[in-house]
Amino acid sequence: MAFGKALAVAAIVAVTLVVLLRTEHDYATIKSFSLRKGDIPQLGLGTWLSDRDEVAHAVEYALDNGYDHIDAALIYKNEDQTGKGIKASGIDRSKIWVTSKLWNSDHRQDEAEAAIQKSIADLGVGYLDLYLMHWPVAFVPGEGTRLDEGTSVVDTWRTMEDLVRKNYTRHIGVSNFARADVQAVLNVCEVCPYAHEFETHPYLQQQNFVDWHREIGVKVIAYSPLANTNPTYRDKKGSLVGPIFKDPFWTELAESKNATVAQVVLAWGVQRGTVVIPKSESEKHIDENRGALEVEFSKEEMEAIAKRDKKVRMNDPGKSWGIKLFADLDDPSGFDGDNAEL
Ligand SMILES: NC(=O)c1ccc[n+]([C@@H]2O[C@H](COP(=O)([O-])OP(=O)(O)OC[C@H]3O[C@@H](n4cnc5c(N)ncnc54)[C@H](OP(=O)(O)O)[C@@H]3O)[C@@H](O)[C@H]2O)c1
Repeated sequence: MAFGKALAVAAIVAVTLVVLLRTEHDYATIKSFSLRKGDIPQLGLGTWLSDRDEVAHAVEYALDNGYDHIDAALIYKNEDQTGKGIKASGIDRSKIWVTSKLWNSDHRQDEAEAAIQKSIADLGVGYLDLYLMHWPVAFVPGEGTRLDEGTSVVDTWRTMEDLVRKNYTRHIGVSNFARADVQAVLNVCEVCPYAHEFETHPYLQQQNFVDWHREIGVKVIAYSPLANTNPTYRDKKGSLVGPIFKDPFWTELAESKNATVAQVVLAWGVQRGTVVIPKSESEKHIDENRGALEVEFSKEEMEAIAKRDKKVRMNDPGKSWGIKLFADLDDPSGFDGDNAEL
């Protein structure tokens, strides 16, 4: 009898221990992400073309002055410096949102895992908040831009789902996808896209495409939100339209709001529900761009802005890669015009 009682007690102790240990383990898994706040912040700092010698300071300055979102990518070749800026800011990791991107030559499983590990290590963040498939295009690893016909977008998505399961990143998403590419992922996803980062601004509004993302529950991150201000666009498609900062419609709108053109352009992006990620290395511009969050438009003003769409795409490397991008969207890749580099 006494032996039976002892056995019962031992069994209860053992079960309790297992439950406790299990709970401890689950908590440890969840804990790293549970400190995080929810959704992606509406304003972030872009880092494409940020000079390696300038970007650490820009990131530190932005984080110390109200930004809580950094948009990075391995191909920008400055994630280590971006990481220095994050560290120097002293801001708790759990208080900032960090996005990085999987480059085209890293779509295969081994390459993808090594790539995300490198981005996390260079950025010094422990995990990412969002990891994007940079383009719906795979290159054969180590062979420049030779297309990898054997790795589909769906194959890469499966690989990226595993990166979430392994806790490298909280969310995954896509970038530069046509509607059919997004749909192909939606048809099969077990971990579904959190966001789609693509070019959209007053001169390439793509309002239907933006609205469609709202319907399917995928957030839109608007890149090149200042239209043709990125200097690499000036000699390419950006020159088809004058600089947005000198566009009388926008200068007058800015004046009427007692704001700058950058502020009203970014404010429009925010008010229509997109996340905007202007790049800047300048303290003055970083402060100015944050001011966009103070500007609001009436319904009539939003309707007037909608009429200023020019449907000009600034960033399209399709020609140099020999692939037609942005099918069914405004200004898809053509093979007779000029295209940007990245
Ligand atoms: N997923 C993708 O394929 C993809 C592609 C392109 C871009 N992106 C992301 O989106 C970010 C933003 O796009 P972007 O860099 O192409 O273009 P952008 O942010 O629209 O424009 C950047 C340019 O605007 C200038 N600028 C910024 N604020 C200004 C202000 N208030 N007044 C005057 N000039 C100002 C910057 O110069 P200063 O530095 O001198 O301020 C820079 O020359 C990128 O940095 C990158 O993180 C992603």
